[in-house]
Amino acid sequence: MNKKIGILTSGGDCPGLNAIIHAVVKCASHKGWEVYGIPYGTDGFLKLEHGKCRSEDLKLREHGYDLPGLLHGIDILQFLSGSILGSLSKGNTEDKAIAQTIIQGYQNLELDALIAVGGDGSLDIIYDLAQKGGWNLVGIPKTIDNDVPFTERSIGFRTAVDTVTSALYDLTFTAASHDRTMIVQVMGRNAGHLALHAGIAGGADIILIPELTPKIDPDLINDICIRIAQLRWSGRKFALIVIAEGVKNQAGEKEKYIGDYLAQQIDEISHKLCLTDKPEFCDLDTIETRATVLGHIQRSGTPSSYDRLLAAAFAKKAIDLIAEEKYNQLVVWQNGEVQTQPLDKVVAHIKQRHELGLCPSPVEPDGFLVQTARSLGIYLG
Ligand code: F6P
Repeated sequence: MNKKIGILTSGGDCPGLNAIIHAVVKCASHKGWEVYGIPYGTDGFLKLEHGKCRSEDLKLREHGYDLPGLLHGIDILQFLSGSILGSLSKGNTEDKAIAQTIIQGYQNLELDALIAVGGDGSLDIIYDLAQKGGWNLVGIPKTIDNDVPFTERSIGFRTAVDTVTSALYDLTFTAASHDRTMIVQVMGRNAGHLALHAGIAGGADIILIPELTPKIDPDLINDICIRIAQLRWSGRKFALIVIAEGVKNQAGEKEKYIGDYLAQQIDEISHKLCLTDKPEFCDLDTIETRATVLGHIQRSGTPSSYDRLLAAAFAKKAIDLIAEEKYNQLVVWQNGEVQTQPLDKVVAHIKQRHELGLCPSPVEPDGFLVQTARSLGIYLG
């Protein structure tokens, strides 16, 4: 039976969103289905209702993004970052009237099903709307934070790991040339996956993630300075520190520039340690610390082959689920393959963790990658 399905991207963007859209359109077109791209997440339904866009303009075509001239035929979409549909970072559905209009928008479009590509916050909100509006929903996890529960991988994460790893490589040479301690602040919200993965792959000496070092206290700084002193003593005059943005200051509060905060603390305590006259600390008086915030560059960049592959696999599964009319499922990556998890279970877990102020899927404090980092001599607190 021919179907009419919708797709939207919601929450912070990440590399690989267009690769999902590309793959969904291809898989659906091969079945003879129509795909409608909902602009700006669920706000697209509001726009439809308010007459700010027309349903006929939302139809996505399989070869709708060809290049001119002899490049005609290259379907570039899967290689582009961002989302051709746009995304929505802030929820507005607590307002009952808005939520009702969004639900109405879905119904008026007469969709058979909706694929929502989102992170933990978006999946939570859209699942609630779907329940209220009787939508046939399939979720696909995306986020550079990799913190959607019940999936080992989310779209965008691996590309962000590559971006941070490459930045660490680039910073290594300037760090070495000036005997500097380079601090790199990376995204991840309350999770340390991005910092941990990239820190190991990029040769960091110290990795600070909220799961292991929730806040920067004097003991931690002391240990970090000792670690830097040991490195210098052993002949490595520079150091690379990766800090996840979720690590808090000494008062347990979030800092916008936690990397700068850490740099100041290291400068202060290393100079104090110098005064203790211990030979291994005497070199610390020349320590120079610089912090770099990688920021939104981590959300862009060409999606890696891994993320494009994952996007294709997730899209195929989402289309299969719709063909079987198995709704309210999240497509996930577990044990090396694509599987599904019921959205009610996923969303209940997300809600419960959010209520406690906790990350829905944090780094395992004694997981294999943490052990790997420690075995490599990386200081993790
Ligand atoms: O959740 C993805 C993420 O990039 C986080 O890592 C980061 O804290 C946040 O979004 C940034 O959000 P915004 O783009 O709204 O500043």
